[in-house]
Amino acid sequence: VELPETLADFERLAAERLDAGPHGYFAGGAADELTMRASEEAWRRIQIRPRVLVDVSERDPSTTLLGERRPHPLIVAPMAFHRLVHPEAEPETARGAAATATPFCLSTLATTSPADLAAAVPDVPRWFQLYVFKDRGVTSGLVEAAADSGFEALVVTVDLPVQGRRERDLRNAFRIDASVPSVGGRSGLSLPEMVEQFDASLTWDDLGRLADESRLPVIVKGVLTPEDARRAVAAGAAGVVVSNHGGRQLDTVAAGAEALPDVAEEVGDEVDLIVDGGIRRGTDVLKAMALGARAVMVGRPAIWGLAVGGAEGVRRVLEVLLAELDVALALTGTPVAAELDATSVQRPYG
Ligand code: GLV
Repeated sequence: VELPETLADFERLAAERLDAGPHGYFAGGAADELTMRASEEAWRRIQIRPRVLVDVSERDPSTTLLGERRPHPLIVAPMAFHRLVHPEAEPETARGAAATATPFCLSTLATTSPADLAAAVPDVPRWFQLYVFKDRGVTSGLVEAAADSGFEALVVTVDLPVQGRRERDLRNAFRIDASVPSVGGRSGLSLPEMVEQFDASLTWDDLGRLADESRLPVIVKGVLTPEDARRAVAAGAAGVVVSNHGGRQLDTVAAGAEALPDVAEEVGDEVDLIVDGGIRRGTDVLKAMALGARAVMVGRPAIWGLAVGGAEGVRRVLEVLLAELDVALALTGTPVAAELDATSVQRPYG
């Protein structure tokens, strides 16, 4: 297969290949999808302030996450139901991630169990995304399975006590087919029905207990304010993902690019900050790092890569982003990504 050269081309091709239900599920956002679109736009509106006549003959995109040196700042975001896009499901995506040394975050709503993912792709750096179930036995079973299978972090998603109103799914009457295995949930349910099994009464106290008891470092995903980032730190989080859940939860909340600077000012020195939402170009990755993120999560582009070219498609998506980042580091005059700071960007807002 001829693989595309840009993430936008992957997105277009995937839209042609996928059925309306699954495509709407992955492509869609909440309500009017304003936040979803704004999340891409916010990165684009930030200008880069390049410095010239800097020695950029060698570039270093590496970063440090959870105390470990990583070759670059990309992470494959947790996403549900990869089997809707490719018969080999999450292991196929993880193979593409492994080929570029990118950590792969397995969703609670994955169609592959933590043990099966680890057995299929033992060399992929892996994190486990957790939704806390009302049935705490299900939750602890998943956490134990992840820790036993070499998952290195627990990414606790905190912005989905109930599901956002996703109108594409409503129009398509989108349901997960009963034949699709689901790890945490049961099959044959609509997504809102699966989400019913999650504990909407969860609070910071529960999160603190979870972090206390966890064998794995806890990363809190879905924070958009410095107040909540501060609470996450107090609860014992090792990291925070500044995220609006791909614009899929509450429409008109801030874009990641807009929320990140204030969060970085509050807790950037204390925990690892990750940002997601709308990362489509290497320049977006550079801007995220300049504004205080140590890493970025890439969601939809990885799914489009999977749809278009399986593991090779995922790999190409990640390689394109890394190639673009390399050029951006050189042409911004900031060859060492870890040394980026806010002087490399000009934000259009406060
Ligand atoms: C699940 O987390 C989703 O956003 O659909």
